[in-house]
Amino acid sequence: MANKQRVLMICLGNICRSPIAEAVFDDYINKNNLNDKWQVDSAALIGYHTGKSPDSRAMKTLRDKGISNYSHRARPITKDDFNKYDWIFGMDEDNISELNRLKPSGSKAKVELLGSYDPEGEKIIRDPYYDDNSAGFVKAYEQCVRSVESFLQKH
Ligand code: 4NP
Repeated sequence: MANKQRVLMICLGNICRSPIAEAVFDDYINKNNLNDKWQVDSAALIGYHTGKSPDSRAMKTLRDKGISNYSHRARPITKDDFNKYDWIFGMDEDNISELNRLKPSGSKAKVELLGSYDPEGEKIIRDPYYDDNSAGFVKAYEQCVRSVESFLQKH
């Protein structure tokens, strides 16, 4: 299908939350034969981790949940992304403020909290980067699953 809907997952570093969100979205569209309708990528608000693979705790969480074919290299968001993507999802309110600051006026992307789709109402996907264990990654994964499923069932 020519007109795919495009979704961009955003977090601060693009090594923890947004790669998990991207992998979950990609897994859902693969399993539900929605590849001809949807496309997903992820990116960062800071360039610090550009070129890096996701945090090993994020990759382990995905593998533990059965997603073993995901790979990604961090990249910063660009101005063009705001016209290329239909939805740009942030993980927390700081992400949303920064996205709204960067967004060129009149660009097409809808900027929303991914967690605004969570049927359990947990709107903020907290940054687990500085945690000393992986519980925050598992929680972020579960929040992403609920929100992605709910978003794709609505669209
Ligand atoms: P993410 O986590 O935004 O979920 O990828 C972070 C990764 C790196 C940093 C902060 C959050 N950092 O400050 O380098």
